[in-house]
Amino acid sequence: MSSLATFELLKWTTSQAENATLILSGSAPPSLSIKDLVGLSSDQATTSHNLSLDSLSLSLGRIQGSEGLRKAIAALYDDTVTLENVLTTIGATGANALVFQGLLKQGDHVISLYPSYTQLISLPKAITGAEVSLWKPDIDGDVNSSIHSLENLVRPTTKMIVLNNPNNPTGTMLSPQLQHEILKLVHSHDIIIVVDEIFRPLYHDPNTHLPPSFVELSDQSSRVVVTGSLSKAWGLAGVRTGWITTKNTDLFTELEKFKTYTVNSTSLIDEVIATEALSHRCRPHILSKHLGLAQQNLDLLQISSMSILNFVGGSGRARVLLHLCSFQLMVAPSTMWTFVGD
Ligand SMILES: Cc1ncc(COP(=O)(O)O)c(C=O)c1O
Repeated sequence: MSSLATFELLKWTTSQAENATLILSGSAPPSLSIKDLVGLSSDQATTSHNLSLDSLSLSLGRIQGSEGLRKAIAALYDDTVTLENVLTTIGATGANALVFQGLLKQGDHVISLYPSYTQLISLPKAITGAEVSLWKPDIDGDVNSSIHSLENLVRPTTKMIVLNNPNNPTGTMLSPQLQHEILKLVHSHDIIIVVDEIFRPLYHDPNTHLPPSFVELSDQSSRVVVTGSLSKAWGLAGVRTGWITTKNTDLFTELEKFKTYTVNSTSLIDEVIATEALSHRCRPHILSKHLGLAQQNLDLLQISSMSILNFVGGSGRARVLLHLCSFQLMVAPSTMWTFVGD
């Protein structure tokens, strides 16, 4: 592996957090406790019982993840996705790392959406030792010109396209039309597409039709891999449960093999908590709490935008340009996202 760039965003946020009174740079709702999970459940007795770990036998879990958890994760997608398509991981960080380490090799060319979460650009670059081309689609503009600019970046050695949808840091989403065109392009060039969908399904604009997950738009022959986790929409980053979802059995087998060598199974304790959080007892209530918070924060942001922020809202997305940071208000500077001059 070539030298790995410093993860500036995480280094900066952890070093600044203790001096800040108000933290505006986070991208997740406040973390839930076990007590919160029980409180949110529609059947508190069952949730409380399922979360009491006294008699949990601390054996090594299954390599793919427990059946109950994989089933609960599959239920986050439409019914074309089944538990056989799901592999559990240590957070989305672990999911993305597994995908890059398991599917890329020295010299492969990778195209990453830009701007994007640092890991999605820096890790492929370190693994392949090659340039990562940055794709900058015009989200609000013409689909054909965005696709054209993506196609122009494709080389004979292009192995993978990496997207983050919805996007961190811009909050933008690719339109269903753009999603379809990207899938056509990767299919015709036999390229693997990896989409970090960690913010799904936290869509808070009632006027926007929920966009499909890329894995829902794929079939067995597609080389589509989606990653996700409990850290954002579900407010459970400390449970360290993430996942990889793909319908492609060759890719699944490769990733499962890599997981066996690198982590074996994920923590059984984490899996028990994650399974209950995604159960029908808890899942809708967690989501509605977090959608409510997102909407409330959006309203607050609009009200306060005059004084400290230049806020540009739009249908189904919130693009926030933070111009000024006053006193102990913690926002993260754009340089932390490996911005390259725009
Ligand atoms: C796009 C994206 N992917 C992955 C992660 C890491 O998630 P996890 O806590 O599940 O490892 C983050 C965290 O901010 C993120 O924004």
